[in-house]
Amino acid sequence: MKPSILVTRAIFPEVIERLAQYFDVDDNQQDAVLDAAALKARLAGKAGVLANAADRIDADLVSVLPGLRAVCNMAVGYNNLDVPALTAAGIVATNTPDVLTETTADFGWALLMATARRVTEAEHYLRAGKWQRWSYDMLVGVDLYGSTLGILGMGRIGQALARRAAGFGMTVLYHNRSQLPEATERSLNARYVSKAELLEQSDHLLLVLPYGPESHHAIGATELSQMKSTATLVNLARGGIVDDAALAKALREKRIFAAGLDVFEGEPRVHPDLLTVPNVVLTPHIASASEKTRKAMAMLAADNLIAALDAGPQAGQPPSVINLEVMSRRR
Ligand code: GLV
Repeated sequence: MKPSILVTRAIFPEVIERLAQYFDVDDNQQDAVLDAAALKARLAGKAGVLANAADRIDADLVSVLPGLRAVCNMAVGYNNLDVPALTAAGIVATNTPDVLTETTADFGWALLMATARRVTEAEHYLRAGKWQRWSYDMLVGVDLYGSTLGILGMGRIGQALARRAAGFGMTVLYHNRSQLPEATERSLNARYVSKAELLEQSDHLLLVLPYGPESHHAIGATELSQMKSTATLVNLARGGIVDDAALAKALREKRIFAAGLDVFEGEPRVHPDLLTVPNVVLTPHIASASEKTRKAMAMLAADNLIAALDAGPQAGQPPSVINLEVMSRRR
């Protein structure tokens, strides 16, 4: 008998077909909303789940799912998973790194440029019929070329963003939990600084750090007050890293120039204050959303699930395990 798995959200049909070779698949191709109770009910009796970054899989849920052996996120971030609880229960947790790095960094650049050069504000202005004539200060923005780029969180995506900065003649500063090896810093032309220096010196600050209790509201009123009044802030990482209310206030009072946000605390709800300030570009968590990358993420999540449940030719070590200690315990 094939093991049963749940795919929590609608997904590319070819991924369902692939999974169906090995598993009895409970899919959600109608994309019905699965709230916590529905998720719990649908997970009963399942050996694995292909989950989405919005599916909260915590200690309480794990405690009522004794048969669950693998939780495979279709996302690089995994703050939706209680990894210590999964590890304690011997459940393999996986994510989808690498395949989305360049697409996400491309989008980071799009959001940064739109923010610095007021692209969405300009389009709204034009569509509203406000463009009557040229004027020297119409929709003036701030430059990227030759400016100082700050990156908070220098993992794979941070490094991909730093590589793009070379073409813009930027000075790159970064802050991270740990400093990168010297050779990597040299190849990226990036200099490690303290968080305070990063806030004070960046003309453009990109947030690409993981979210957890230690990064909750890492950018709040105090940090915003340390930034230049001409600076921009872009959050590509997770909502909750920025205190959205404090940011809306800083934007309204022009204490920083502008912001670009792809992620929000409590998304898909967006803090109402952000919706009423003009100098913020808002996008609905789409940084990895190219068709090619989303297919690669879905296939990687499926490969992880197949390997984690010892099915098919991929039986063994899943390509991207978060809690390797579970794998070593299984051997
Ligand atoms: C998207 O936010 C991801 O973590 O992949």
